[in-house]
Amino acid sequence: MHIVVDTEARIAKLAAAQFICLIHQKPDAVLGLATGSTPLGLYAELIRAYTAGEVTFAGAASFNLDEYVGLPEAHEQSYHAFMQKNLFDHIDLPKERIHIPSGIDRSPEQLSGYDRAIAAAGGVDLQLLGLGCNGHIGFNEPGTPFETTTHLVQLSESTRKANARFFAGEAEVPGEAVTMGIKTVMNAKSIVLVAFGAAKAEAVERALRGPVTPDMPASVLQLHPFVSVYLDQEAASKL
Ligand code: F6R
Repeated sequence: MHIVVDTEARIAKLAAAQFICLIHQKPDAVLGLATGSTPLGLYAELIRAYTAGEVTFAGAASFNLDEYVGLPEAHEQSYHAFMQKNLFDHIDLPKERIHIPSGIDRSPEQLSGYDRAIAAAGGVDLQLLGLGCNGHIGFNEPGTPFETTTHLVQLSESTRKANARFFAGEAEVPGEAVTMGIKTVMNAKSIVLVAFGAAKAEAVERALRGPVTPDMPASVLQLHPFVSVYLDQEAASKL
């Protein structure tokens, strides 16, 4: 595991550079993408690089980690809408190769179909992950078995509280989500984990230095051979 500690602004550039280098080497790369606050600077940097003619996503494909259950795609807090607004509207990734789990059709066929679609695309080359304060990756909350593939989850109270800032209030945050499972994430060929801020420091320390246990979902990353971790000083303060 390779750990980089720097300012939030420089990390956005360094982590984006990892995606851009991959696409230069492999124009048809399969990107694993995340939502939330953490990737915003990285996505801004990908948009800047695309606009400057430094990279094209025309041959690439993407699979997002997760989506809330029950929100229509057009709802401004859906992860479909988030990705359109913060990345896809501004780059040339072909629409037909963008994949985000459906929060509306959550039939067993759609859930297992997501893992099959990833496999059919050749597997995720580089998966971007943020980190929940409780150690979740995707929406795999503490206690999620490591063998899980794409599945339906009940969001924990702490996650709903953390995400209430994007909604009119906690009561508006959906109680369920569809997420890639831990196994789905671990199948990625390489992984980039990014965390910013003091609120993540304890989860970072437990994930990287603590025992590997489903009680701390991100600790599973210790078992992956190619993980880059990008932290600001605050998130790294307990290491
Ligand atoms: C988002 C996701 C979540 C977030 C995590 C951190 O697709 O899967 O695991 O990465 O909740 O969220 P932020 O970045 O908002 O602190």
